[in-house]
Amino acid sequence: MIFRAKKCLPGPFNLPIIGYLHKLDPAGPHLTLTKLVQKYGPVYRLKLGSINTVVIADAKILKKLLAKDETLGRPPLYIFYTVFDGKGILSLPIEQLKDQRKFVTNFLRTIGASRVSPNKKTCEALIRKHVEEFVQVFKSPNRCVSMDPSEYVSRCVSNIAGMILLGKSFSLDDKTVTDLAENLDKVIEAIAFGGPLNFLPFLRFLPMFRKTLTSLKKSVHIIRDVQKKLINECQESMSRVKTDVPTSLIQAFLIQMSRGSPEHIYNHNQLHYLLFDIYIAFTETTKTSFGWILLYLAQYEEVQNKIRQELLEVVQDKTVEVDDFVNLHYTKAAIAEVARIRTVAPFGMPQWVSANVCVEGYTIPKDTMIMPLLWAIHMDPKVYKEPEEFRPERFLDDNGKFIKPESFLPFQTGKRMCIGEEIATMIMYIFVVIVVKNFKLAPPDFAPIDFTGITKASLAPKPQEIMFTKI
Ligand code: HEM
Repeated sequence: MIFRAKKCLPGPFNLPIIGYLHKLDPAGPHLTLTKLVQKYGPVYRLKLGSINTVVIADAKILKKLLAKDETLGRPPLYIFYTVFDGKGILSLPIEQLKDQRKFVTNFLRTIGASRVSPNKKTCEALIRKHVEEFVQVFKSPNRCVSMDPSEYVSRCVSNIAGMILLGKSFSLDDKTVTDLAENLDKVIEAIAFGGPLNFLPFLRFLPMFRKTLTSLKKSVHIIRDVQKKLINECQESMSRVKTDVPTSLIQAFLIQMSRGSPEHIYNHNQLHYLLFDIYIAFTETTKTSFGWILLYLAQYEEVQNKIRQELLEVVQDKTVEVDDFVNLHYTKAAIAEVARIRTVAPFGMPQWVSANVCVEGYTIPKDTMIMPLLWAIHMDPKVYKEPEEFRPERFLDDNGKFIKPESFLPFQTGKRMCIGEEIATMIMYIFVVIVVKNFKLAPPDFAPIDFTGITKASLAPKPQEIMFTKI
């Protein structure tokens, strides 16, 4: 038996070779796994291809488990390693992880992507500039326009990420950066499409998967060439003008290299993968979150009105600054409710058990994948009454102050928890405030809003139009 445990972990029957993969609904695998929680409880086992997996659908248990050093690794998934190669940050071995997480966190703080950073105004201005550009697109002379915002959301987020990581935004007439953005998007698509390859690597011999892998490798190659060019440009400009205070991740890394930091970590290859990983982690999740926020605001006019009212009471006519968010309780609650009801990472990011660990009387053996089923945690009716109802008030206490329940984990938990939480939150706050101040959003005349979503690398909204009416 695979699971030698004090108590035997419950779970469904698994077929040889494919395990439980055949039962997962391709349109919503998180929904299939959530149904199993009702039958087997919040900790259960199954096999995904050849990978022994333990699904965790309880916040308290997940917090305990992911706080352990034995659960810090990432699973040896085929596509994941083809793309990330055990470097960068997402798949980095534990020995180098602490250093690279600290490096990125310090960098984000230096550029102002933190409430405690002295440079937060600079970062805020950068975000604001790109969100203002986004808003301009919908200011049609007719006052009212019905449009699918996804392309512009994508451009807005890529520009913010581009400035922070590369020191460049994605201008349509700059081939270098458009090549980069396009190929990064292709990689994200291929990661999503090639999902089954992670668990059944032999599928790579089938033509459709072979094609995906070939195009994935081609995109990775193009991205690397573009990055090389940008890194060279940055190196040249740093040789002309010395700087100790970086304004992009490339600069920060090159400064670290010039200070004689350990070469086995601070080398050009690692810089390529780090840029690549952080760009993907940054853009996919943030774009998807913007998409859901727009749809929920459009559907719930009363929520927009309450946000506008709060802005009027708290900041009146002045420009909202990051420091004001402390008092924008309802606005924060509305954003949190979107993150709960449409968890953009419904399976979180899986982790790998490197030595037997105990949880709730069960032993999870070495070489098991832990799948944090964030979707089920956020949809647990014992914690969130009528979870399919969109209700920002869940995140407010009796005095109308914003509260974060223990089982609210959009950025996961533990030692590998998302390092972009602060900047992502800052970006979402600024986005919501600017959009709500400029437009009344509504469903288009001809169709209701579709909240079902598509499971790609994240749980993304389906492309659809929204009505933007200038205020
Ligand atoms: C709404 C936006 C975002 C959401 C919902 C989100 C969510 C997540 C989740 C669930 C994880 C997995 C954590 C784990 O394995 O424990 C993660 C990891 C990560 N996120 Fe985010 N993220 C967001 C934005 C960002 C941004 C803006 C950045 C840019 C700095 C970022 C950088 C990362 C990195 C580097 C990791 C990997 C950490 C590691 O492997 O140690 N994320 N994120």
